[in-house]
Amino acid sequence: MTRSFLDVTEAWDGESVVTAFDSATGAWIFVALHDTRLGPAAGGTRMAAYPEPVDGLVDAMRLAEGMTWKWASVGIRFGGGKAVIAVPDGLGDEARAGLVDRYAAHLVSLRGAFQTGVDLGTTPDDMARVGAISGYAVGLIDGEPGDPGPYTARGVFAGMRAALEHRLGDANFNERSVLIEGLGGVGLPLAGLLSEAGATLYLADLREAAARHARARFGGKVVPLDDIWDLNVDVYAPCAVGATLNPDTIPRLRCRIVAGAANNQLLSEADAEGLHERGILYAPDYVINAGGAVAFTAIHQGERDENRLRARVDAIGSSLREMFEEAATAGESPLHAARRRARRFLGAHGGTHGGAPGGPSPGTG
Ligand code: PHE
Repeated sequence: MTRSFLDVTEAWDGESVVTAFDSATGAWIFVALHDTRLGPAAGGTRMAAYPEPVDGLVDAMRLAEGMTWKWASVGIRFGGGKAVIAVPDGLGDEARAGLVDRYAAHLVSLRGAFQTGVDLGTTPDDMARVGAISGYAVGLIDGEPGDPGPYTARGVFAGMRAALEHRLGDANFNERSVLIEGLGGVGLPLAGLLSEAGATLYLADLREAAARHARARFGGKVVPLDDIWDLNVDVYAPCAVGATLNPDTIPRLRCRIVAGAANNQLLSEADAEGLHERGILYAPDYVINAGGAVAFTAIHQGERDENRLRARVDAIGSSLREMFEEAATAGESPLHAARRRARRFLGAHGGTHGGAPGGPSPGTG
């Protein structure tokens, strides 16, 4: 059954979606603005082929909501938004380049209501182009393409350390195995950090060549995607598409920690309880994967010092440590602790619409 645009719009609790159809390519552009109480919306731009355009719309809505929680949980005054460009299968390079340019022009028409960075299916070069045309790409330094992936990976690594300490008593990666699902812009640098720390790596990707490439650089074992649910590992790090934690997969998981970079890892919130009941520590996705967003908004605000950028990203580890402890005391999933923290920030800084400047608020981050 295909859901209609009207049905999914009615069911969504976000503010609005700006929709455009690109007739030259047949692509749909959805800019979903979920909650702009903290400031103008910011979030990545995802480009993918979906079964139906409406599936792209739903993805944009869910991802935009994730951004609302992400900004609030790390204390950054941006609203939650996300863009999805739902492209036809097999779009050629030239057609794609034209589409990116028209997408940028679309952002110009929104006059800053949405600012963006890379996400699945878009590249730092795309964002440099979007920035040059629109001025609404965050994190560019002198217009040069910048890659948030390594910062996101660093944040995931810091969060994983905190999870190891909390769940297993120490953060010695030498004794630990990690399954990375998705060896793209974040999964690949994460493999580098983990291999340097001495972890045993299992690598899985839809594009097997990406997994093999990661193995050639950082070692580890390539595993077929179909086999990952039965792998006996300490940590499962989802770094690709969302919804891999669901009632079908959770009973099969043999890991003790889920800590990865993918957005919307849970099919639904109830899956956090499923993990909790199985004794699997879940690092809330929008907290542990906020490193790129944290670093790029800091760059946007003028921060250029690499050590300070890294320190901001590493702070994700201490935030998660607090959430794990709070959740353990209450006997609940860390998702609740993350929610409470985000709600507190929204309550304190999100009283009105429109007035807040985008960017980190003083004394946070
Ligand atoms: N794709 C990033 C995320 O989901 C969003 C982002 C990256 C936003 C870089 C701004 C800058 O967190």
